[in-house]
Amino acid sequence: MWRGSEMCGIVGVAGRDAAKKVIDSLKILEYRGYDSAGIAVMLNGRMEVRKAAGTIENLISRYPEVLEMGGELGIGHTRWATHGRVSDSNAHPILDCSGRIAVVHNGTIDNYMEIREKLSIKHEFRTETDTEVIAHLIEEMLSSGMGRLEAFISAVSELRGEYAVACMFEGVNELYLARNKIPLVIGVGEGENYCASDVIALLGLTNKFIYVDDGEFARVSSRSVDVWRLEGEKLVPVEKRINLVDWSPSMASKGKYEHFMLKEIFEQEDVVRRILAESRRYIEGTISMLNDTMRRGGRILFLAAGTSYHASMVGKYLLNSLLEYPSEVSIASEFTRWNLGSLDGDDLVIAVSQSGETADVLMAVKSARKKGARILSFVNVPGSTLSRESDGVFFFSAGPEIGVAATKTYVAELVSFLMTFTELGKRIGARVDHVTEVLPRLPSLVASCLESSNRIARDLSEAIKRENSIFFMGRGINYPTALEGALKMKEISYIHAEGFPAGEYKHGPLALISEGTYSIVIGSNDPEIRDLLLSNVNELRARGSRVISVETGDHLPSDIRIKVAEDGIPEEFLPVVFVIPLQLLAYYTAVALGRNPDKPRNLAKSVTVK
Ligand code: F6R
Repeated sequence: MWRGSEMCGIVGVAGRDAAKKVIDSLKILEYRGYDSAGIAVMLNGRMEVRKAAGTIENLISRYPEVLEMGGELGIGHTRWATHGRVSDSNAHPILDCSGRIAVVHNGTIDNYMEIREKLSIKHEFRTETDTEVIAHLIEEMLSSGMGRLEAFISAVSELRGEYAVACMFEGVNELYLARNKIPLVIGVGEGENYCASDVIALLGLTNKFIYVDDGEFARVSSRSVDVWRLEGEKLVPVEKRINLVDWSPSMASKGKYEHFMLKEIFEQEDVVRRILAESRRYIEGTISMLNDTMRRGGRILFLAAGTSYHASMVGKYLLNSLLEYPSEVSIASEFTRWNLGSLDGDDLVIAVSQSGETADVLMAVKSARKKGARILSFVNVPGSTLSRESDGVFFFSAGPEIGVAATKTYVAELVSFLMTFTELGKRIGARVDHVTEVLPRLPSLVASCLESSNRIARDLSEAIKRENSIFFMGRGINYPTALEGALKMKEISYIHAEGFPAGEYKHGPLALISEGTYSIVIGSNDPEIRDLLLSNVNELRARGSRVISVETGDHLPSDIRIKVAEDGIPEEFLPVVFVIPLQLLAYYTAVALGRNPDKPRNLAKSVTVK
């Protein structure tokens, strides 16, 4: 997740009852942006536009007719403002001077000022958005005598930046699409077709998808889908494959839960079960790439952002300890020439991303590939850009994650690593029996964690909600757990939270501890680590900190103990079971403070810009 320049959602429908379908799909995309919404619909050849600042619900209450108006074609947009304030006029669709061309856009146009200046002699600009230049450029091309397709492609070709664009022309039942570095899919239906920023928006309409690639243009009507790319000046048709996505629409609904985040936390038992069963098919390819790299003595480097970075840290600890092979991990946006070192064809980059669309990860992967490294990705979303740009992919089948904060996909990433690294370990004679014996029981361990920590997390949130700062600490494989606990807390409750390696406390952060400060200490089942944690906890308590421990038994002196799973389970499983109470604690604290955990301020899912 998170914001970049513009995290918007776009939808297009070429078919019956277009307005209602656009609205329903937009609602699912609201996680991508929720400060304005709008639609343009073709009604008997006339284009009707309704747009407003605020949520989609707000659009509907202002213009209730959007649910009833029917229509043969429509586009819609949910906006996350960057260029231009949140206002009715800046909401998309954005129109040209004549009001006969409507455009929705996700991304940023770097040269929009230049284009705007050039066009404003002849064209009247009515919004502060960068998107408006697209509408006027198309209008300009049309007025110079070009046909619609040519005008659309010529206009888009003048843009520098990142975009997914959908456009419609009054009187014409066709969607015109273009993509550069921002996700865009085409849905293939029965007698109608669609487009959207994300497959989940269209799951209620189809499970057949065509992934539009960078530099491609498409024209979509209710009966046809055509895709082209420019080779020099020449427009060349592209044959596209239809991909089946086996996600169901119910996976993208809240069901009985108040928020997606809570639903997704509670889904984790099923997610783990599903990965252990269904993702098995990706194991062979994955371990052959790992094994090959290890045989050649190549570097193994994890690259990821945010929560996926924390999972990658655990991945590195697992790989290093279970397979006794050194690996490294880098935050994707920090993967630059300053710290990249040398990479070559013997090396393997493990790119980890729930969405498979995170721009920082895609950019890092691109530069690693340029050096010759091979790319193995761990991804949730089928057909995502990262998965298509990798040499091998492990899909971890967590199902759609809609809450902005990553929860079930974090656990899915951890389980995918456990599964693949132990399988490889078995084959190369590494000592992994202690993990393989417990792995099949992991779904029930997760279920018991959910059960045992839900209540205590809810109760504790009443105290935590009054804090200005809380600290999380762990050691070894649970240092990333501390980081992840803190990230969840800060991003959805807006309480300042920091994670530290417990041993680092005395080197500075201890100065932050005063009477009553909450410290959340992540326990360990490794006797050496536990002894070290014990002295850390004593230091904290001596300074008046209130210690909340997360453990499998009664080991650390604590003011409050959250006890989960089974005492003594192997250390390798602790990141999975310990993160659950931390997710719940963050969730309940956010709710207790009246925040919406599914839509934290300033953040959006899928960070498609750098
Ligand atoms: C935090 C969160 C983000 C994402 C990060 C990477 O809850 O969701 O930190 O983990 O933006 O996203 P993906 O995994 O899609 O690459």
